[in-house]
Amino acid sequence: MRRKLVVGNWKMNGNIKSNRTLLNAIVQGLQTYNNADYVVCVPAPYLFQARLILKNTNIAWGGQNVNQFEHGALTGAVAPHMLTDLGCTFVLIGHSERRLLFHETNTTTSASFGAAISAGMTPILCIGETLAELKAGQTEAVLAKQIDSVMLNLNANEFAKAMQLNMVFAYEPVWAVGAKKSATPERVQSVHKFIRQHIAQHNPEAATQVRILYGGSVNSKNAGSLFVMPDVDGGLIGGASLTADEFIAICQLAN
Ligand code: PGA
Repeated sequence: MRRKLVVGNWKMNGNIKSNRTLLNAIVQGLQTYNNADYVVCVPAPYLFQARLILKNTNIAWGGQNVNQFEHGALTGAVAPHMLTDLGCTFVLIGHSERRLLFHETNTTTSASFGAAISAGMTPILCIGETLAELKAGQTEAVLAKQIDSVMLNLNANEFAKAMQLNMVFAYEPVWAVGAKKSATPERVQSVHKFIRQHIAQHNPEAATQVRILYGGSVNSKNAGSLFVMPDVDGGLIGGASLTADEFIAICQLAN
């Protein structure tokens, strides 16, 4: 039985004052909901604040991205040890906005995935097709390539560590991200089933263990119908994670 996981992705939003209000409300709202796991991925400058407020609660915090290198002349980049220093136990890897707007590739994504594991953080690998790829019938080919590039980059030790850390996958069709229109639960289920079967080709045990989240316009109205699908193990929530009531309601549905 896989435990449900809900991850909030704040993207480039928030300030010290609004974060305090939002984080305190989430802590309060989820205090007695201990049957699922919750994470907020906040902008790097606010990880220190997230740590102060979320320490010793049932909510974890994580980074939105991580560089593959531990140090160096890489202006603006955040190293794996910096995230773990700040208490991050999770990190998003290969979000579609990183791929499309910051030109990250399957190669850099795989390197960051490996670096996150080496640092002891649970990577949340984001994969998904664009609208053009969907229309061209390439969804499965795109997902397979994104999964393979990461899986084939791990040696046996790294793979074992990824299993120990309970690596997470997040299916985020690019056309549904920030679109106010989610993919249907039936479509999400069939894609998640494909992802699980594809992971099984690399390692059958990983396929049953890995949690596969859905992301793309999830809100408190559609989360319930998505979370009941057998291969949907939770959600990666963008816009709706910025409103306390919405995020709490989604987490409670996962619980
Ligand atoms: P959204 O974003 O919920 O606003 O669609 C999801 C994501 O990008 O992780």
